[in-house]
Amino acid sequence: MNKITIAIDGFSSTGKSTVAKQLAKYLGYVYVDSGAMYRAVTYYAMQNGLISKDDFNVEALIYQLDNINITFKFNEKLGFAEVYLNNENIERAIRTLEVSSFVSKVAAISEVRQKLVEQQQKMGQDKGVVMDGRDIGTVVFKDAELKLYMIASAEKRAVRRFDELIERGDQVLYEDVLKNVQERDHIDSTREDSPLVKAADAIEIDNSDMTLDEQFDKILRLAKMTIEDC
Ligand code: DC
Repeated sequence: MNKITIAIDGFSSTGKSTVAKQLAKYLGYVYVDSGAMYRAVTYYAMQNGLISKDDFNVEALIYQLDNINITFKFNEKLGFAEVYLNNENIERAIRTLEVSSFVSKVAAISEVRQKLVEQQQKMGQDKGVVMDGRDIGTVVFKDAELKLYMIASAEKRAVRRFDELIERGDQVLYEDVLKNVQERDHIDSTREDSPLVKAADAIEIDNSDMTLDEQFDKILRLAKMTIEDC
């Protein structure tokens, strides 16, 4: 059977990665979390004192981009690939609210995007990939056979993110999570390079009031139809 490329874009915490992982597992495809790559660069900048609340040394980060090696390794137990920065597993470390508070600024830098987009395109060159992010259907895989654009209200998304952070033991306030979601929405959709926009040929899915099962069923149906048509 023909393998296709599935691009899933949308604002933060719209459930992209959950459904992308389910879909990749079901179809036997590779799942790539492109947001994790922007988070990895952000983590590098934080670890190397290049970004803080008051300061961001963009030039130094651009200069050091060649020192940043991002890889994914499949974790059998978890059932998905975890992200590594220079051979260090940073899957958990990149999910903090602190990383989230800086990542949109890092993702707005064209040199960073160029490096990561190139790597993402290589990862998907043989098709059979489900990749989620902000510019997958508009920039990374413009020719993807199936493009989805996920939406949900900022409040619903903040509740989901808040629950995730609390579950993993982080101490956060709902108000701070909501503020972060809204700030990232603004930066991600208004930046000059590859802003988040719905691709003309993307199918919009509003999952504000859908269960995970309903969402998966709907998207799996779309994926099967697209595969049959190819
Ligand atoms: O999907 P996420 O919330 O983990 O993504 C983290 C940030 O990375 C997000 O605020 C915007 C940026 N991003 C991007 O600009 N392009 C992508 N393809 C994926 C993420």
